[in-house]
Amino acid sequence: MRLADRRILLIVSGSISAYKVLELTRLLRKSGAAVTGVLTAGGARFVTKEALAGITGQRVHDDLWAAEAEIGHIRLARLPDLVVVAPASANMLAKMANGLADDLASTILLATRAPVLVAPAMNTAMWEHPATRANMAALTARGVRLVGPGVGAMAEPESGPGRLAEPAEIHAAIEAILAPEAGPLASRHILVTSGPTHEPIDPVRYIANRSSGKQGHAIAAALAALGARVTLVAGPVTLSDPPGVTTVHVETAREMLATCEAALPADAAVMAAAVADWRVAHEASQKMKKEPGADAPTLAMALNPDILATVSRHAQRPRLVIGFAAETEKVVEHAIAKRARKGCDWILANDVSGEVMGGDANRIHLVTDEGVENWPEMAKAEVAERLAARIAAWLG
Ligand code: C5P
Repeated sequence: MRLADRRILLIVSGSISAYKVLELTRLLRKSGAAVTGVLTAGGARFVTKEALAGITGQRVHDDLWAAEAEIGHIRLARLPDLVVVAPASANMLAKMANGLADDLASTILLATRAPVLVAPAMNTAMWEHPATRANMAALTARGVRLVGPGVGAMAEPESGPGRLAEPAEIHAAIEAILAPEAGPLASRHILVTSGPTHEPIDPVRYIANRSSGKQGHAIAAALAALGARVTLVAGPVTLSDPPGVTTVHVETAREMLATCEAALPADAAVMAAAVADWRVAHEASQKMKKEPGADAPTLAMALNPDILATVSRHAQRPRLVIGFAAETEKVVEHAIAKRARKGCDWILANDVSGEVMGGDANRIHLVTDEGVENWPEMAKAEVAERLAARIAAWLG
Protein backbone atom coordinates (compact mmCIF):
# COMPACT_ATOMS: atom_id res chain seq x y z
CA MET A 1 0.00 0.00 0.00
CA ARG A 2 2.71 2.44 -1.02
CA LEU A 3 0.16 5.01 -2.14
CA ALA A 4 -2.08 4.79 0.92
CA ASP A 5 -4.17 7.96 1.29
CA ARG A 6 -2.47 9.69 -1.65
CA ARG A 7 -4.89 11.67 -3.81
CA ILE A 8 -4.51 11.48 -7.56
CA LEU A 9 -6.42 13.55 -10.07
CA LEU A 10 -6.52 11.58 -13.31
CA ILE A 11 -7.19 13.62 -16.45
CA VAL A 12 -8.17 11.51 -19.47
CA SER A 13 -7.86 13.20 -22.85
CA GLY A 14 -8.73 11.87 -26.27
CA SER A 15 -6.88 8.81 -27.53
CA ILE A 16 -7.92 5.34 -28.57
CA SER A 17 -5.58 4.07 -25.82
CA ALA A 18 -7.75 5.69 -23.12
CA TYR A 19 -9.23 2.29 -22.22
CA LYS A 20 -5.93 1.54 -20.46
CA VAL A 21 -6.72 4.08 -17.72
CA LEU A 22 -9.29 1.72 -16.29
CA GLU A 23 -6.53 -0.80 -15.55
CA LEU A 24 -4.27 2.01 -14.30
CA THR A 25 -7.00 3.14 -11.92
CA ARG A 26 -7.44 -0.40 -10.63
CA LEU A 27 -3.70 -0.62 -9.89
CA LEU A 28 -3.70 2.77 -8.17
CA ARG A 29 -6.62 1.88 -5.93
CA LYS A 30 -4.99 -1.43 -5.08
CA SER A 31 -1.95 0.57 -3.89
CA GLY A 32 -4.22 2.60 -1.62
CA ALA A 33 -4.60 5.78 -3.71
CA ALA A 34 -7.82 7.75 -4.07
CA VAL A 35 -8.43 8.59 -7.72
CA THR A 36 -10.65 11.37 -9.02
CA GLY A 37 -11.37 11.23 -12.74
CA VAL A 38 -11.65 14.20 -15.09
CA LEU A 39 -12.65 13.65 -18.71
CA THR A 40 -12.02 16.04 -21.59
CA ALA A 41 -14.51 16.07 -24.44
CA GLY A 42 -12.06 13.91 -26.43
CA GLY A 43 -11.49 11.54 -23.50
CA ALA A 44 -15.24 11.04 -23.16
CA ARG A 45 -15.30 9.70 -26.73
CA PHE A 46 -13.20 6.73 -25.65
CA VAL A 47 -14.04 6.12 -21.98
CA THR A 48 -17.50 6.55 -20.57
CA LYS A 49 -18.10 8.67 -17.50
CA GLU A 50 -19.89 5.69 -15.97
CA ALA A 51 -16.93 3.33 -16.44
CA LEU A 52 -14.50 5.80 -14.91
CA ALA A 53 -16.87 6.59 -12.04
CA GLY A 54 -17.37 2.89 -11.43
CA ILE A 55 -13.68 2.10 -11.21
CA THR A 56 -12.64 5.22 -9.26
CA GLY A 57 -15.63 4.94 -6.93
CA GLN A 58 -16.01 8.71 -7.24
CA ARG A 59 -17.97 11.24 -9.23
CA VAL A 60 -16.26 12.03 -12.54
CA HIS A 61 -15.94 15.67 -13.61
CA ASP A 62 -16.20 16.63 -17.24
CA ASP A 63 -17.67 20.10 -17.38
CA LEU A 64 -16.13 23.33 -16.11
CA TRP A 65 -19.44 24.95 -15.22
CA ALA A 66 -21.02 21.89 -13.65
CA ALA A 67 -17.85 21.33 -11.61
CA GLU A 68 -18.07 24.96 -10.53
CA ALA A 69 -21.46 24.34 -9.00
CA GLU A 70 -20.36 21.10 -7.29
CA ILE A 71 -16.80 21.57 -6.06
CA GLY A 72 -15.04 24.33 -8.02
CA HIS A 73 -12.08 23.97 -10.30
CA ILE A 74 -9.74 25.58 -7.77
CA ARG A 75 -10.59 22.95 -5.17
CA LEU A 76 -10.23 20.20 -7.74
CA ALA A 77 -6.81 21.62 -8.58
CA ARG A 78 -5.71 21.98 -4.95
CA LEU A 79 -6.85 18.63 -3.58
CA PRO A 80 -4.54 16.14 -5.32
CA ASP A 81 -0.99 15.18 -4.38
CA LEU A 82 -0.38 14.50 -8.06
CA VAL A 83 -2.15 15.29 -11.32
CA VAL A 84 -1.76 12.57 -13.94
CA VAL A 85 -2.69 13.22 -17.57
CA ALA A 86 -3.13 9.83 -19.22
CA PRO A 87 -3.47 9.61 -22.09
CA ALA A 88 -2.15 13.08 -22.86
CA SER A 89 -3.09 13.98 -26.44
CA ALA A 90 -1.02 16.30 -28.61
CA ASN A 91 -3.73 18.92 -28.19
CA MET A 92 -3.67 18.60 -24.40
CA LEU A 93 0.14 18.98 -24.32
CA ALA A 94 -0.12 22.06 -26.55
CA LYS A 95 -2.71 23.61 -24.26
CA MET A 96 -0.60 22.87 -21.19
CA ALA A 97 2.55 24.27 -22.78
CA ASN A 98 0.75 27.49 -23.64
CA GLY A 99 -1.30 27.88 -20.47
CA LEU A 100 -4.69 27.62 -22.14
CA ALA A 101 -7.66 27.17 -19.85
CA ASP A 102 -10.69 26.60 -22.04
CA ASP A 103 -12.20 23.54 -20.40
CA LEU A 104 -12.20 21.89 -16.98
CA ALA A 105 -9.04 19.78 -17.49
CA SER A 106 -6.86 22.59 -18.82
CA THR A 107 -8.16 24.99 -16.17
CA ILE A 108 -7.20 22.53 -13.41
CA LEU A 109 -3.76 22.09 -14.98
CA LEU A 110 -3.22 25.85 -14.93
CA ALA A 111 -4.52 26.22 -11.39
CA THR A 112 -2.78 23.30 -9.71
CA ARG A 113 0.39 23.50 -7.64
CA ALA A 114 0.65 19.70 -7.43
CA PRO A 115 3.29 17.91 -9.49
CA VAL A 116 2.06 16.84 -12.91
CA LEU A 117 2.85 13.60 -14.74
CA VAL A 118 1.96 13.23 -18.41
CA ALA A 119 1.67 9.97 -20.34
CA PRO A 120 1.49 11.04 -24.00
CA ALA A 121 -0.30 9.02 -26.64
CA MET A 122 -0.54 10.01 -30.25
CA ASN A 123 0.40 9.11 -33.77
CA THR A 124 4.18 9.01 -34.34
CA ALA A 125 4.15 11.92 -36.79
CA MET A 126 2.34 14.08 -34.23
CA TRP A 127 4.78 13.10 -31.46
CA GLU A 128 7.76 13.89 -33.69
CA HIS A 129 6.34 17.14 -35.04
CA PRO A 130 8.48 20.17 -34.10
CA ALA A 131 5.46 21.76 -32.41
CA THR A 132 5.04 18.79 -30.05
CA ARG A 133 8.82 18.63 -29.51
CA ALA A 134 8.79 22.30 -28.47
CA ASN A 135 5.75 21.79 -26.24
CA MET A 136 7.38 18.82 -24.49
CA ALA A 137 10.63 20.75 -24.03
CA ALA A 138 8.69 23.62 -22.44
CA LEU A 139 6.74 21.26 -20.18
CA THR A 140 9.70 19.21 -18.96
CA ALA A 141 11.72 22.41 -18.39
CA ARG A 142 8.85 23.50 -16.15
CA GLY A 143 9.12 20.30 -14.12
CA VAL A 144 6.29 18.31 -15.70
CA ARG A 145 7.19 14.63 -15.43
CA LEU A 146 6.93 12.27 -18.37
CA VAL A 147 6.24 8.56 -18.70
CA GLY A 148 6.51 7.00 -22.16
CA PRO A 149 5.46 7.12 -24.86
CA GLY A 150 6.43 3.62 -25.85
CA VAL A 151 7.48 2.44 -29.26
CA GLY A 152 5.44 -0.20 -30.97
CA ALA A 153 2.32 -1.10 -32.85
CA MET A 154 -0.46 1.44 -32.66
CA ALA A 155 -3.96 1.81 -34.00
CA GLU A 156 -2.70 3.01 -37.35
CA PRO A 157 -0.69 0.54 -39.44
CA GLU A 158 2.61 2.14 -38.53
CA SER A 159 5.08 1.81 -35.74
CA GLY A 160 7.18 4.32 -33.84
CA PRO A 161 7.09 6.32 -30.63
CA GLY A 162 3.65 7.50 -29.57
CA ARG A 163 2.08 4.52 -27.85
CA LEU A 164 0.66 5.16 -24.36
CA ALA A 165 2.89 3.67 -21.65
CA GLU A 166 1.51 0.46 -20.12
CA PRO A 167 -0.59 0.84 -16.94
CA ALA A 168 2.14 -0.84 -14.85
CA GLU A 169 4.73 1.64 -16.13
CA ILE A 170 2.53 4.63 -15.38
CA HIS A 171 1.79 3.17 -11.95
CA ALA A 172 5.53 2.75 -11.29
CA ALA A 173 6.19 6.34 -12.39
CA ILE A 174 3.50 7.55 -10.00
CA GLU A 175 4.99 5.53 -7.13
CA ALA A 176 8.45 6.89 -7.97
CA ILE A 177 7.09 10.44 -7.62
CA LEU A 178 4.79 10.02 -4.63
CA ALA A 179 6.45 7.36 -2.53
CA PRO A 180 10.13 6.81 -3.42
CA GLU A 181 11.07 6.69 0.25
CA ALA A 182 8.75 3.76 0.87
CA GLY A 183 10.47 1.41 -1.59
CA PRO A 184 12.83 -1.40 -0.62
CA LEU A 185 15.74 0.31 -2.43
CA ALA A 186 15.32 3.67 -0.69
CA SER A 187 18.74 5.14 0.22
CA ARG A 188 20.52 2.90 -2.30
CA HIS A 189 22.46 4.31 -5.23
CA ILE A 190 22.51 2.18 -8.37
CA LEU A 191 24.46 2.79 -11.55
CA VAL A 192 22.96 1.57 -14.83
CA THR A 193 24.37 1.73 -18.36
CA SER A 194 22.10 1.43 -21.38
CA GLY A 195 22.00 1.75 -25.14
CA PRO A 196 24.73 1.50 -27.74
CA THR A 197 27.82 3.65 -28.01
CA HIS A 198 28.75 5.62 -31.10
CA GLU A 199 32.40 5.60 -32.05
CA PRO A 200 33.25 8.43 -34.43
CA ILE A 201 35.11 7.87 -37.68
CA ASP A 202 35.05 11.55 -38.66
CA PRO A 203 32.73 14.45 -37.75
CA VAL A 204 29.81 12.91 -39.67
CA ARG A 205 30.35 9.14 -39.56
CA TYR A 206 30.34 6.68 -36.70
CA ILE A 207 30.28 2.99 -35.84
CA ALA A 208 27.21 1.83 -33.93
CA ASN A 209 25.16 -1.27 -33.10
CA ARG A 210 21.50 -2.23 -32.95
CA SER A 211 20.96 -1.79 -29.20
CA SER A 212 17.77 0.21 -28.49
CA GLY A 213 18.39 0.78 -24.78
CA LYS A 214 14.93 -0.61 -23.99
CA GLN A 215 16.15 -3.19 -21.50
CA GLY A 216 18.61 -0.90 -19.70
CA HIS A 217 16.15 1.99 -19.50
CA ALA A 218 13.45 -0.35 -18.18
CA ILE A 219 15.86 -1.56 -15.50
CA ALA A 220 16.69 2.01 -14.46
CA ALA A 221 12.96 2.81 -14.22
CA ALA A 222 12.20 -0.36 -12.24
CA LEU A 223 14.99 0.36 -9.75
CA ALA A 224 13.78 3.96 -9.31
CA ALA A 225 10.26 2.68 -8.77
CA LEU A 226 11.59 0.66 -5.82
CA GLY A 227 13.03 3.84 -4.36
CA ALA A 228 16.65 3.67 -5.54
CA ARG A 229 18.60 6.75 -6.52
CA VAL A 230 19.55 5.73 -10.04
CA THR A 231 22.28 7.16 -12.24
CA LEU A 232 21.61 6.04 -15.82
CA VAL A 233 24.50 6.48 -18.22
CA ALA A 234 22.85 6.26 -21.62
CA GLY A 235 24.39 6.01 -25.05
CA PRO A 236 22.54 7.50 -28.03
CA VAL A 237 18.94 6.19 -27.93
CA THR A 238 15.58 7.50 -29.08
CA LEU A 239 13.90 6.67 -25.74
CA SER A 240 12.89 9.38 -23.29
CA ASP A 241 14.69 9.59 -19.93
CA PRO A 242 12.95 7.33 -17.38
CA PRO A 243 11.00 9.23 -14.73
CA GLY A 244 12.72 9.71 -11.39
CA VAL A 245 16.15 8.76 -12.79
CA THR A 246 19.25 10.95 -13.17
CA THR A 247 20.19 10.36 -16.80
CA VAL A 248 23.58 11.32 -18.22
CA HIS A 249 23.86 11.16 -22.00
CA VAL A 250 27.13 10.02 -23.55
CA GLU A 251 28.27 8.97 -27.01
CA THR A 252 31.43 6.92 -26.82
CA ALA A 253 32.67 4.03 -24.69
CA ARG A 254 35.37 6.20 -23.20
CA GLU A 255 32.83 8.84 -22.18
CA MET A 256 30.63 6.12 -20.73
CA LEU A 257 33.48 4.76 -18.63
CA ALA A 258 34.49 8.20 -17.33
CA THR A 259 30.87 8.98 -16.42
CA CYS A 260 30.45 5.62 -14.65
CA GLU A 261 33.62 6.10 -12.62
CA ALA A 262 32.53 9.62 -11.67
CA ALA A 263 29.17 8.22 -10.49
CA LEU A 264 30.78 5.83 -7.97
CA PRO A 265 30.34 4.93 -5.18
CA ALA A 266 27.21 2.91 -5.79
CA ASP A 267 25.60 -0.03 -3.99
CA ALA A 268 25.07 -1.90 -7.24
CA ALA A 269 25.83 -1.52 -10.95
CA VAL A 270 23.88 -2.96 -13.86
CA MET A 271 25.81 -2.75 -17.11
CA ALA A 272 23.22 -3.25 -19.82
CA ALA A 273 24.83 -1.06 -22.49
CA ALA A 274 26.02 -2.63 -25.73
CA VAL A 275 29.40 -0.94 -25.56
CA ALA A 276 31.40 -0.97 -28.79
CA ASP A 277 34.39 -3.23 -28.38
CA TRP A 278 36.48 -1.24 -30.82
CA ARG A 279 36.81 2.35 -31.87
CA VAL A 280 38.57 3.89 -34.80
CA ALA A 281 42.16 4.45 -33.73
CA HIS A 282 42.52 7.84 -35.36
CA GLU A 283 39.33 9.87 -35.64
CA ALA A 284 39.59 12.25 -38.60
CA SER A 285 39.10 15.86 -37.59
CA GLN A 286 37.58 16.74 -40.99
CA LYS A 287 35.09 14.78 -43.06
CA MET A 288 36.97 12.11 -45.01
CA LYS A 289 36.67 12.85 -48.71
CA LYS A 290 35.95 10.39 -51.49
CA GLU A 291 38.67 11.30 -54.00
CA PRO A 292 38.04 10.25 -57.60
CA GLY A 293 39.97 7.12 -58.45
CA ALA A 294 41.28 6.60 -54.90
CA ASP A 295 40.89 3.29 -53.04
CA ALA A 296 38.49 2.91 -50.13
CA PRO A 297 40.20 3.86 -46.86
CA THR A 298 41.23 1.23 -44.32
CA LEU A 299 40.18 1.93 -40.76
CA ALA A 300 42.68 1.02 -38.07
CA MET A 301 40.83 0.04 -34.91
CA ALA A 302 41.75 0.35 -31.22
CA LEU A 303 40.35 -1.59 -28.27
CA ASN A 304 37.79 0.22 -26.13
CA PRO A 305 37.96 -0.01 -22.35
CA ASP A 306 35.76 -2.72 -20.83
CA ILE A 307 33.49 -0.78 -18.49
CA LEU A 308 32.02 -3.83 -16.76
CA ALA A 309 35.47 -5.32 -16.08
CA THR A 310 36.81 -1.95 -14.92
CA VAL A 311 33.94 -1.36 -12.49
CA SER A 312 34.18 -4.98 -11.26
CA ARG A 313 37.80 -4.45 -10.27
CA HIS A 314 37.47 -0.83 -9.17
CA ALA A 315 38.72 0.42 -5.79
CA GLN A 316 35.14 1.62 -5.24
CA ARG A 317 33.57 -1.56 -6.57
CA PRO A 318 29.81 -1.70 -5.91
CA ARG A 319 28.83 -4.63 -3.71
CA LEU A 320 26.81 -6.13 -6.54
CA VAL A 321 27.99 -5.83 -10.15
CA ILE A 322 25.74 -7.21 -12.89
CA GLY A 323 26.60 -7.62 -16.57
CA PHE A 324 24.82 -8.80 -19.66
CA ALA A 325 25.90 -11.34 -22.22
CA ALA A 326 24.27 -11.05 -25.60
CA GLU A 327 25.10 -14.25 -27.45
CA THR A 328 24.02 -15.91 -30.64
CA GLU A 329 25.12 -19.45 -29.67
CA LYS A 330 26.13 -21.47 -26.57
CA VAL A 331 24.45 -18.73 -24.54
CA VAL A 332 24.87 -20.12 -21.03
CA GLU A 333 28.31 -21.59 -21.59
CA HIS A 334 29.66 -18.26 -22.84
CA ALA A 335 27.93 -16.39 -20.02
CA ILE A 336 29.55 -18.54 -17.33
CA ALA A 337 32.97 -17.88 -18.83
CA LYS A 338 32.19 -14.18 -19.19
CA ARG A 339 31.18 -13.87 -15.54
CA ALA A 340 34.56 -15.15 -14.47
CA ARG A 341 36.48 -13.12 -17.02
CA LYS A 342 34.77 -9.83 -16.19
CA GLY A 343 34.81 -10.32 -12.43
CA CYS A 344 31.14 -9.44 -12.01
CA ASP A 345 28.66 -11.15 -9.67
CA TRP A 346 25.73 -11.87 -11.94
CA ILE A 347 25.35 -12.17 -15.70
CA LEU A 348 22.03 -11.91 -17.49
CA ALA A 349 22.53 -13.89 -20.65
CA ASN A 350 20.22 -13.66 -23.60
CA ASP A 351 20.08 -15.11 -27.05
CA VAL A 352 20.14 -12.24 -29.55
CA SER A 353 19.98 -14.36 -32.67
CA GLY A 354 16.21 -13.61 -32.90
CA GLU A 355 14.43 -10.30 -32.50
CA VAL A 356 15.66 -9.31 -29.05
CA MET A 357 17.64 -6.25 -30.14
CA GLY A 358 15.09 -3.46 -30.51
CA GLY A 359 12.22 -5.82 -29.64
CA ASP A 360 10.04 -5.75 -26.56
CA ALA A 361 10.60 -9.26 -25.20
CA ASN A 362 13.60 -11.05 -23.77
CA ARG A 363 14.44 -14.56 -22.57
CA ILE A 364 17.01 -14.42 -19.79
CA HIS A 365 19.34 -16.93 -18.19
CA LEU A 366 20.59 -15.56 -14.87
CA VAL A 367 24.09 -16.79 -14.03
CA THR A 368 25.23 -16.33 -10.43
CA ASP A 369 27.71 -18.12 -8.16
CA GLU A 370 24.83 -20.43 -7.25
CA GLY A 371 24.16 -21.62 -10.78
CA VAL A 372 21.91 -20.82 -13.72
CA GLU A 373 18.26 -19.82 -13.64
CA ASN A 374 16.28 -19.98 -16.87
CA TRP A 375 13.56 -17.33 -16.95
CA PRO A 376 10.63 -17.76 -19.34
CA GLU A 377 10.32 -15.30 -22.20
CA MET A 378 8.78 -12.07 -20.90
CA ALA A 379 8.47 -8.37 -21.71
CA LYS A 380 11.61 -6.31 -21.13
CA ALA A 381 9.65 -4.30 -18.53
CA GLU A 382 8.96 -7.55 -16.65
CA VAL A 383 12.61 -8.63 -16.85
CA ALA A 384 13.43 -5.23 -15.35
CA GLU A 385 10.96 -5.60 -12.50
CA ARG A 386 12.13 -9.10 -11.73
CA LEU A 387 15.77 -8.05 -11.70
CA ALA A 388 15.03 -4.98 -9.56
CA ALA A 389 13.24 -7.17 -7.03
CA ARG A 390 16.21 -9.57 -6.96
CA ILE A 391 18.64 -6.71 -6.44
CA ALA A 392 16.48 -5.36 -3.61
CA ALA A 393 16.42 -8.79 -1.96
CA TRP A 394 20.18 -9.24 -2.35
CA LEU A 395 21.07 -5.81 -0.96
CA GLY A 396 18.71 -6.53 1.89
O1 C5P B 1 32.26 -8.74 -23.68
P1 C5P B 1 30.82 -8.51 -23.96
O2 C5P B 1 30.58 -7.23 -24.74
O3 C5P B 1 30.08 -9.65 -24.50
O4 C5P B 1 30.21 -8.27 -22.50
C1 C5P B 1 28.94 -7.79 -22.30
C2 C5P B 1 28.84 -7.12 -20.97
O5 C5P B 1 29.98 -6.29 -20.75
C3 C5P B 1 27.67 -6.19 -20.88
O6 C5P B 1 27.23 -6.11 -19.55
C4 C5P B 1 28.25 -4.86 -21.35
O7 C5P B 1 27.52 -3.76 -20.82
C5 C5P B 1 29.64 -4.92 -20.76
N1 C5P B 1 30.67 -4.24 -21.54
C6 C5P B 1 31.26 -3.10 -21.04
N2 C5P B 1 32.28 -2.49 -21.73
C7 C5P B 1 32.70 -2.98 -22.91
C8 C5P B 1 32.11 -4.15 -23.43
C9 C5P B 1 31.09 -4.74 -22.73
O8 C5P B 1 30.87 -2.65 -19.96
N3 C5P B 1 33.67 -2.37 -23.55
